[in-house]
Amino acid sequence: MTDFARLDVDDVPAAFTEAASRYDRMVSLNPGYHRHLRSAADALLETLDPHRPLRLVDLGCGSGASTRALLAAAAEEGAEVRVTGVDASPGMLEQAEAKTWPAGVDFHQGLAQDLAAHRSDWGLEAPADGVLAAYLFRNVAERDAVLADVHDLLSDGGTLVVQEYSVAGSPRAGAVWSLVSWAVVIPLSWITSRQTRLYRYLWRSVRAFDPVQTFTDRLHAAGFVDVEVRTVSGWQHGILHTFRARKPAWLSWITSRQTRLYRYLWRSVRAFDPVQTFIDRLHAAGFVDVEVRTVSGWQHGILHTFRARKPA
Ligand SMILES: C[S@@+](CC[C@H](N)C(=O)[O-])C[C@H]1O[C@@H](n2cnc3c(N)ncnc32)[C@H](O)[C@@H]1O
Repeated sequence: MTDFARLDVDDVPAAFTEAASRYDRMVSLNPGYHRHLRSAADALLETLDPHRPLRLVDLGCGSGASTRALLAAAAEEGAEVRVTGVDASPGMLEQAEAKTWPAGVDFHQGLAQDLAAHRSDWGLEAPADGVLAAYLFRNVAERDAVLADVHDLLSDGGTLVVQEYSVAGSPRAGAVWSLVSWAVVIPLSWITSRQTRLYRYLWRSVRAFDPVQTFTDRLHAAGFVDVEVRTVSGWQHGILHTFRARKPAWLSWITSRQTRLYRYLWRSVRAFDPVQTFIDRLHAAGFVDVEVRTVSGWQHGILHTFRARKPA
């Protein structure tokens, strides 16, 4: 295909394969690229319990830059992790596989749209604690279906982080994006490779991607809760966004049809000490300055915080 041809979404993996050997060099010219990936990985890891082994998935892992960010974020939290990278482009995966990785990192080729069908082939039978999808969703037409599959893949309380450019609905963001694309990114791509197709597609696909609110609505529609969105500082402010969302922890008893634990919760709360009895226990144990407060909302008078000090 000539460089002047327009790239369609179905050709994207092949175009990444064509550009794969130059990809790391190209992103290294973007000074914020690795920092932004790291902050997305931190946003994922900070929601997970680092004291038990974690199962992570890097969907659209490319040449492994986002996988590396996940490992660095996990190392900082002191978490032991297994990471599975999935990408549709054999060339990008070849770049990733050529790098040195610790035990517990593996890569598989395939479309995000085929996640549900390939879970066992990709070693993802067990639920994942966290999924990172950095710069993937723009390239996926079936976004709702993929979000539903990621929701299925996650364990209860698991987290999805999506890093993506979105400018629709913001004339300022759209104008800055077009200016930087045509004045910097596309010319740089021509200078370094005499190819501009992928970066013209990048420009176009970002303009066509969901407005932030639409993608947030998709996350809710797929069953995610606690959806948060933040943007970065610098020229990409309002252009590059990190979406974080969780699979509700309480789904377990609906999906498992198990109510034993929650019937016990109900019974044990009813049977627990009255507030005064627990205060008396604290005094009897030698504590002083005992204080109790309750929360606002429907749990007022139900949920209490007891604070007590050992005498100095
Ligand atoms: C911009 S790169 C990002 C790679 C990596 N996440 C990073 O942050 O450096 C996007 C990657 O998504 C992959 N990709 C595009 N469409 C895909 C799809 N439908 N399923 C899986 N991977 C896809 C491409 O092959 C490419 O490697």
